[in-house]
Amino acid sequence: MIPEVDQDRLVQEIEALAQISDAQAPAVTRIVFTPTDLKARAWLIARCEEAGLVVRQDSIGNIFARWTGSDAHAPAVGTGSHIDAIPNAGRFDGVVGVLGGLEAIRSLGRSGLRPKHSIELLVFTSEEPTRFGIGCLGSRLLSGSLSPDAAGILADKDGASLEEVRKKAGFQGELEEVKLPRGYYKAFVEMHIEQGPLLERQRVPLGIVTRIAAPAGLRIAVEGAGGHAGGVLMPDRRDALCAAAELILAIENVAKTSGAIDTVATVGTCEVFPGAVNSIPSRVHLSVDIRDTSLERRDAVLRSIQAARQAIAAKRQVAIEETLLNADAPAECAAEIIEALSDSCAKHKQPFILMVSRAYHDSLFISRIAPVAMLFIPCRNGYSHRPDEFAAPEDIARGVTILAETLAGLAG
Ligand code: GLV
Ligand code: MN
Ligand code: MN
Repeated sequence: MIPEVDQDRLVQEIEALAQISDAQAPAVTRIVFTPTDLKARAWLIARCEEAGLVVRQDSIGNIFARWTGSDAHAPAVGTGSHIDAIPNAGRFDGVVGVLGGLEAIRSLGRSGLRPKHSIELLVFTSEEPTRFGIGCLGSRLLSGSLSPDAAGILADKDGASLEEVRKKAGFQGELEEVKLPRGYYKAFVEMHIEQGPLLERQRVPLGIVTRIAAPAGLRIAVEGAGGHAGGVLMPDRRDALCAAAELILAIENVAKTSGAIDTVATVGTCEVFPGAVNSIPSRVHLSVDIRDTSLERRDAVLRSIQAARQAIAAKRQVAIEETLLNADAPAECAAEIIEALSDSCAKHKQPFILMVSRAYHDSLFISRIAPVAMLFIPCRNGYSHRPDEFAAPEDIARGVTILAETLAGLAG
């Protein structure tokens, strides 16, 4: 069986999905449960149904599109990723794993394969943390890593709870129903752009992921004192933005001096209140993203940030509060899925390297309930989370061929 990938159709579909966006092209913005996200979901479901897949959605909006195997009750082989996109993002992050996964299934159908195990495309809800502060909402709930109660009370920046927002978007069931039973998946394989430069630099077309780094997220609130930008003398100020600025640099320094290149920390948002040029900032909210391949080192970074926060608060006479949104363990990929991917590469004479994923993915959580591995394809200059993110059609098609071969092998 040689899966023949329809590269032109896949490229057209990636283009079509990129058009469903709240940003001016080439940028893509698709935030979970916005009208644009719902339109993209409807478009995608139509493509899955056209392919003859049986589609269902759970109460957090995860989409399952199944090609039923000859043993309909056997655990399924899963593949997929996400279609939500952070503000001002590109068109490939998540999407190559979803539309590539769909094309992998279609190519297997065309090749005449009749799998024993069902093959299922899974499109995860809100892999990106943009709206509710933590990423991988769908996979956290599927794997039982986030309790339905804790999920329901997450709120967006307008104060709307996830519970409210998802119901308004048409997902009415109970969040308790989302968790998958153990053994639901025999295996899960996620294809994704690398989001880093290593494949391109090493001129290797494929990466097989052995480990996914440990992410953590913090929300920090700095409370100082506002006032007139002309009237309040410098010695009397308790400027929340100046304190936040010191903290931002301290966070950068903690990551830079951890002793490991794998430690990264980013302050990605900064909201200043009241936000007027002639008013001293009284309140600042920051969001912080920390990753490391070592859990111990990641936790040491969290402790150092806490110490910096306390020292800066004391020195500047401001209150700085920290909320830990998530602190997840790294994931190990399963040896048998890594081997299945390696065998497929060997069969198609495609070189690959084994690598770590420094980005997180829904596979981080699915690995808690099923054997998982990921397949990376190169992206130009390693760019991701920016409009000029680019993966070449032939690199995507190569990834889909290896994915299809692997799914076929796993599905028997
Ligand atoms: C996923 O989008 C990540 O931020 O790693
Ligand atoms: Mn992303
Ligand atoms: Mn992604």
